[in-house]
Amino acid sequence: MRILITGAAGQLGTELCHQLEMGRCALGPLPAQLRGAEVTPVDLPDADLTKHAGADMLLRRYTPDVVINCAAFTQVDLAESEPDAAFAANALAARNLAMACEVAGAKLVHISTDYVFSGDSARAYAETDLPCPASVYGETKLLGEQYVRDFCCRWFIVRTAWLYGRTGGNFVKTMLKLTAENDSVKVVNDQRGNPTNAEDLAYHLLLLAATEEYGLYHCTGNGVCSWYEFASEIARLAGHSAEMIPCTTADFPRPAKRPANSALEHRMLRLTVGDHMRHWQDALADYISEMGHDTA
Ligand SMILES: NC(=O)c1ccc[n+]([C@@H]2O[C@H](COP(=O)([O-])OP(=O)(O)OC[C@H]3O[C@@H](n4cnc5c(N)ncnc54)[C@H](OP(=O)(O)O)[C@@H]3O)[C@@H](O)[C@H]2O)c1
Repeated sequence: MRILITGAAGQLGTELCHQLEMGRCALGPLPAQLRGAEVTPVDLPDADLTKHAGADMLLRRYTPDVVINCAAFTQVDLAESEPDAAFAANALAARNLAMACEVAGAKLVHISTDYVFSGDSARAYAETDLPCPASVYGETKLLGEQYVRDFCCRWFIVRTAWLYGRTGGNFVKTMLKLTAENDSVKVVNDQRGNPTNAEDLAYHLLLLAATEEYGLYHCTGNGVCSWYEFASEIARLAGHSAEMIPCTTADFPRPAKRPANSALEHRMLRLTVGDHMRHWQDALADYISEMGHDTA
């Protein structure tokens, strides 16, 4: 089995490479077919997927059985002022990889986002709900999904949310730092979603990659909270005594509109490889005890 991981230096890409090297993670061993897999991690500047020739060359050179596309323009606010760069990385690169995978006969595991939804729903979004993004980032990721469906036939599209991993910056590391350095921290309490440990997501991506259960999936930490509740739990687990102050989205204006409710329901995961995603509080507790208070 040969696996190509794009965006391999990011949060999710790093976690996938780590699990493939270890052959297991906290949730269990990897599927037997994946143990001992030949893994090729690629990222910028060596692999720019926004050019068709770049994606095509990668597939021809490494002839993977599976491509896991973690490459993305993930700066949600910056996408509002740099839409071309965001569309190139999130839509064109997905199209280029899908076309190259189709020619090579490879499976494509493509990662998408809860931000494809408007956030107006009172319940968790199912795979059958119609997307209606409220931000440029959400639009770019939705177009990427459509291109993957259009240009290859062995696809898995996996939407996740509120992701944190060992590498790079994320909300957990930001809150660890802010609650260590300040007496009080204000956090938005009117946006709800599912915090997701990259370890849990990576494990499910690999479970899926070992199958032919193609299609659209939602895969996030179980349980729902607000950013304020998430931040309060981070501070509590770290033993930081900063006062946590709930505020509204209106108190904290940002360039990109965020969904008020972006919780995702996991039906397709349950019906195929199983939903082994931990409750967000359990996965967060393990992350903080493993990482210590490292905010780098
Ligand atoms: N982070 C979240 O909260 C979140 C939530 C929902 C969904 N997701 C999705 O989950 C996936 C993984 O996210 P992540 O947090 O691991 O992202 P990340 O840490 O930002 O990593 C993305 C990687 O892709 C690389 N990249 C960007 N443009 C590229 C291009 N044109 N060609 C090749 N590589 C490129 C980046 O390189 P540079 O660093 O050099 O730009 C970076 O190493 C993405 O699809 C993202 O949309 C993330």
